[in-house]
Amino acid sequence: MKRSIRDLVNLEGKRVFLRTDFNLPMNNVGKITDATRLVNELPTIRYLVERGAKVIICSHLGRPNGFDFRLSLWPVALMLMKYFPGKVQFAHKTIGPEVQQQVASMSNGSILLLENIRFFKEETANDPKFAKELASLADIYVDDAFGVVHRKHASTYGVARLLPNAIGFLIENEVTIIENAIKTPKKPFVAVFGGGKVSDKIGALLNILSPADVVLIGGAMAYAFLMAQGVSIGKSLVEVESVKIAAQVLEKAQQMGKKIVLPVDHVAYRDGDKNERAFVTDDLEDDMIGADIGPKTIRLFENELEKANQIIWNGPLGKYEDPKFQKGTFKIAKCIAKTSAYSIIGGGDSISAVKQAKCEKLINHISTGGGVTLKLLEGASLPGIDIIQEKVI
Ligand code: ADP
Ligand code: 3PG
Ligand code: MG
Repeated sequence: MKRSIRDLVNLEGKRVFLRTDFNLPMNNVGKITDATRLVNELPTIRYLVERGAKVIICSHLGRPNGFDFRLSLWPVALMLMKYFPGKVQFAHKTIGPEVQQQVASMSNGSILLLENIRFFKEETANDPKFAKELASLADIYVDDAFGVVHRKHASTYGVARLLPNAIGFLIENEVTIIENAIKTPKKPFVAVFGGGKVSDKIGALLNILSPADVVLIGGAMAYAFLMAQGVSIGKSLVEVESVKIAAQVLEKAQQMGKKIVLPVDHVAYRDGDKNERAFVTDDLEDDMIGADIGPKTIRLFENELEKANQIIWNGPLGKYEDPKFQKGTFKIAKCIAKTSAYSIIGGGDSISAVKQAKCEKLINHISTGGGVTLKLLEGASLPGIDIIQEKVI
């Protein structure tokens, strides 16, 4: 078990380098459109502030190539100031003498948010000199940036090696919930996969076959599976290389005696129809494009979900951004919310879909991770967590 911030003693006056994932969605005028990742981080920040630590917060935002004012963390600093009035300062420079000065003048229980760490290419390169410079700002390293624990960057890995360290509440919570769901699932366990790329999700899909009883597959992903079964899919979105992978998954599921449920009907439109007029069909003809699961499939999926005691969902079941093709995703979201099963949802688009369907409050765990949630489901090693010291018992 990894050392958590609860295991840190005498925090009064200590400089804590806290890596968070404040990669928040923003519109083109820098307005934060979803603050979930920041709100979920507040318990860790409060814990440190209340114990008199000097909290130096570091995060990335987007994937900049050098400085880019559109990816400044300043809007996040403004939001933090509302939660911690009079306690927050912003370090426009991220590192260097000015920041060292700012750190030196911090009072106990105050917060300094560093500008976007990814303005420096040394961050993603995990440059040792850069990591050393970051480490020189603090006495202790705390990692709570769940969204990037699969990245071996200077602020997620390099600096952790140089300081006494621990994980924060958000990582602890995410990892405990997702690992428990995989290792000791409540049965029956139904997994729902959708979205675009099979290749991104294959690891998670294969790993989940062991604990899961039933896997429901929708979205564009389903077309690779249908194609692998020789079912015609018209001009629906499919990655050709995924068809082989899908065939492997189907074979493995059969060997293991696990049930995979695929769509039996679709909401489709015709190729070349500019208005993408939607209609329901059981069979996809050559010029048809499937963009959502159909009503029979919805009922089939609902049937399985109603029997579940645990549900994990990743990936929308159709092109939910378009109102014509969102019914499948929204109906399944509502069904998951209504069941008494323990429900976990991960994936940027899946979360956004659940929020649009207004049922996020009834989901037991909404993961703040993006790609990392899939990594965790896959059972992959996570460098940002591996590098943290074990708890001394
Ligand atoms: P998440 O972010 O939840 O992991 P993904 O990024 O894998 O989900 O997938 C979301 C995307 O998949 C959405 O943009 C959605 O429009 C698309 N999608 C789902 N089903 C289809 C489909 N049948 N045809 C085309 N795109 C689809
Ligand atoms: C995310 O949004 O998934 C995390 O912040 C990770 O971002 P990255 O994929 O750019 O490392
Ligand atoms: Mg996505």
